[in-house]
Amino acid sequence: MKIFLDTANREYIKKLIPTGVIDGVTTNPSLLSKEGSDVKSVLRDICAMVSGPVSVEVVEKHPDAVLKQAREIAAFAKNVVVKIPFALEYMPAIKTLADDGIALNITLVFTPLQALMVAKLGVAYISPFLGRWDDIGVDSIDLLEQTMSIQETYDFDSEILAASVRTIIQWQEVAQTGVDIATVPPALFEQVFKHPLTERGIALFDADWQKLGKTSLFE
Ligand code: E4P
Repeated sequence: MKIFLDTANREYIKKLIPTGVIDGVTTNPSLLSKEGSDVKSVLRDICAMVSGPVSVEVVEKHPDAVLKQAREIAAFAKNVVVKIPFALEYMPAIKTLADDGIALNITLVFTPLQALMVAKLGVAYISPFLGRWDDIGVDSIDLLEQTMSIQETYDFDSEILAASVRTIIQWQEVAQTGVDIATVPPALFEQVFKHPLTERGIALFDADWQKLGKTSLFE
């Protein structure tokens, strides 16, 4: 499973990229709005810090403006992926961009059929929002599996990117589905590395080692 960080926060990205297990970053307008008004610098820094794909979402609304802005975003950095919300009126722009070989991440996908529509256009990534499914009482894992099943049946090239993952249990269930990618907030990513038994175990090993009174392992 590829793991993307769902953030626009440079400190978190700088801290967590060296773990070696983060394959990309997803941003959205809400995440960017938390990082101040110099959006260009924020995005330039993120694209330089991350070697994998960095999703940047269009903020224009009219389909013509979305198409134009998508091209500008695509030209911003080599590893940029253009995020476009799923909508009927954006389908022609999505088709044009996908045909031009621009990497697209179609976001705010909430049904397996929505995923089917954009998979047919050859987009690189499709982002179903699991947490927001759960918010409205829908079984997100069930819908994710239905989405993946349709994609597999027709052998589409698009990768499914499980987004809006909010808890460790949900992430673990997402991993069990075999989905291509999960994007997770930094705080959730860090939770994986915290476990009371791991911490207690380290303290116990250290206490026993200290009893030997040695200053180094091999001396
Ligand atoms: C994904 O690309 C989105 O940025 C994100 O996962 C949304 O998560 P949320 O529903 O917790 O805001």
